[in-house]
Parts: sequence; structure tokens; C-alpha cells
Amino acid sequence: MEQQVTAVAHANVALVKYFGKRDVRLNLPAAPSLSLTLKPLQTTTKLMFSNDKADVVIANGVAADEKFAGRICSFLHLFRQQSGNSQFLTVHTENNFPTAAGLASSAAGFAALTVGAARLFGLSLSESELSAWARRGSGSASRSVCGGIVHWQRGGSADGSDSFARSILPAGEWDLRILVGVTTRAPKEIGSTSAMEHTRTTSPYYRAWIDSATAAVDEAIEAVSKKDFERLGEVTEHSALSMHASLMAAQPPIVFLKGATIDVFHLTRTLRKEGIQAYFTCDAGPQPKILCQGKDANAVEARLRACSGVVDVIHCSLGEGAGLQTPE
Ligand code: PMV
Repeated sequence: MEQQVTAVAHANVALVKYFGKRDVRLNLPAAPSLSLTLKPLQTTTKLMFSNDKADVVIANGVAADEKFAGRICSFLHLFRQQSGNSQFLTVHTENNFPTAAGLASSAAGFAALTVGAARLFGLSLSESELSAWARRGSGSASRSVCGGIVHWQRGGSADGSDSFARSILPAGEWDLRILVGVTTRAPKEIGSTSAMEHTRTTSPYYRAWIDSATAAVDEAIEAVSKKDFERLGEVTEHSALSMHASLMAAQPPIVFLKGATIDVFHLTRTLRKEGIQAYFTCDAGPQPKILCQGKDANAVEARLRACSGVVDVIHCSLGEGAGLQTPE
């Protein structure tokens, strides 16, 4: 039996957002979503069996805080239960991008952890099963298991067995780019689960938001099948703005968008007026992201870098799904 493994996974950005749960414990989404798996945003996670009496989690070189470590331990416990092996682990996890700042670090993290833990605990799982397991750690992690353009289906069963993601277009088949405008490296003020539950229970726009998601995903899937960039871009902007509208209508309101985030939204519209096809999105944090095609990416990147309030730009393209790192 292997004593240690290393797994890698990329972050992802949703073009049609997931923002609302039908089951909090199982991380079952109230609606489907659609995302791009992004290289080079990557988490590398090394897992080792240990003789300790508890799991030890080292994140980016330092002992993880109690909350994050607790989340990982409960997640690993699912693998112990399933495999009948009660051994604890030492986990070293590293991101090559800012953690917890609206860049889906939990998605890459739990996807890598799932693939690594499944191997270490000797569970032989299909990609769909890995995705459903990763979902238990963080909803969006279900999508980071798969590469390219990814559809996470809502599923209808109470146990979540049909709520997993799958790739609808492999990474090499469409040269899409995401330019992340980093506006701050500070951790975000509120976690996504709290924000979702607060919005679900207090926002009068929540129901309308959820009701619109299935049609948006269907439209995005059709746009992908025809490689209709303009249509995909329009669905993307509409989904992001609708999600933030629903957050802003919560009581008290949640506003993730900063001034610089909104400036990038306007920049994107200006680019379109100039004839460059670019569309924005933004998750539960202040980092705006611009979706464009490879042919326009350098021009968009230069304009984004010049935008005041943008401290860095990360240029991403479509990446592969999560996997094990082969030993050197
Ligand atoms: O996976 P979570 O629980 O961190 O939720 C992610 C939610 C958003 O990033 C805001 C949207 C999405 O679909 O990724």
C-alpha cells in the first residue's frame, strides 16, 4: 500500500454561477452551473499516512488555522469511513495563487485532496464519483476534478449521488482565456457558504436567481457546442451580475464588489465598443475576471494592467482536470 501521494488540481471560474444550496451538509446545489478549469492556478497537495493521533494540515508552509484544518479533517474522515482504514494523515497543501480571495482556492484544494485521498485510501472511483466526493469538501471543487469546460449538474436525489460535474469540452478544443484582475490579496470577509445561506434566507431576489440558472446553463451549453463566444459571454455577464444583485438585496446586504472591480466591468464594456470581444465575471470576492479569446488576450491583458486599482493580472487558459503527480 502506498504511504504517500501528491495530487494536483486547477482552480476554476464559473461562467454560470453556483450560489445556493439545496442541502448544506452534502453541498448539494440549488441549481446547475458551468465553469472553466484554469491553468496555471494550481493547488499541489501531498498526503502521507502518519502515526499521529490526528490529521496535521500544513497550508502554504504553515500550520493551517483551526477552522480550515477542521474542514479538511472532517472531509478526510469520509475516506476513513468508506475505506475502513482509520489512520490519520499529514497533508501539505500549496497554492500558486492568493488563497481565499475569490479565486476558488477551495475548489482546487478539495479536488486535489479528493484525488490524493482516494488513491491513498485505496478507493477506486470514476471521475464522476471523484467529483461527487470533492463536492462534499466544497461545492465548486466538484468542477475542478474535470478539465476544460465543465458542467456541474444539479441532480435530484437526496443523497447527492447524481450531483457531479463532467467536462463538456476538453481543454485543447477552444482557446478561451480568463484574465484575473487582482485588486487585493487580503482574504475575503465572508465565506461562500455563509453568504449563500444568508442570501437564501433574506434576499427577495434569491428565488428569481435560482429559477433563472437552469435556462442560463442550457444556453451556455448550447453556446459552447457552437463555439458561439458572444452568446457565452453574454450569459456569463448576466449570471455574475444576477448573483451579485441577489447578494446585494440580502438583509443586511453583502457587497463583494470594490470600486476597482466595477471599473474593470466598465473597461470590459469599453473594449467591446472598440471591437474586442471581452466579457466580465466576478465570484464571491473582489477580483474581476475578463473572459476573452486567445487572439485578443494580450490586448485585453495590457488594458487590464493599466487599470488603476488592479495590482496584478493572472493570465489563465483552459486546464486539465485533477490528477496524481507521478513520482520523479
Ligand atoms: O465552492 P464554494 O462553496 O466555495 O462556492 C463557490 C461560489 C462561487 O465561487 C461564488 C460561484 C461558483 O460557482 O464558483
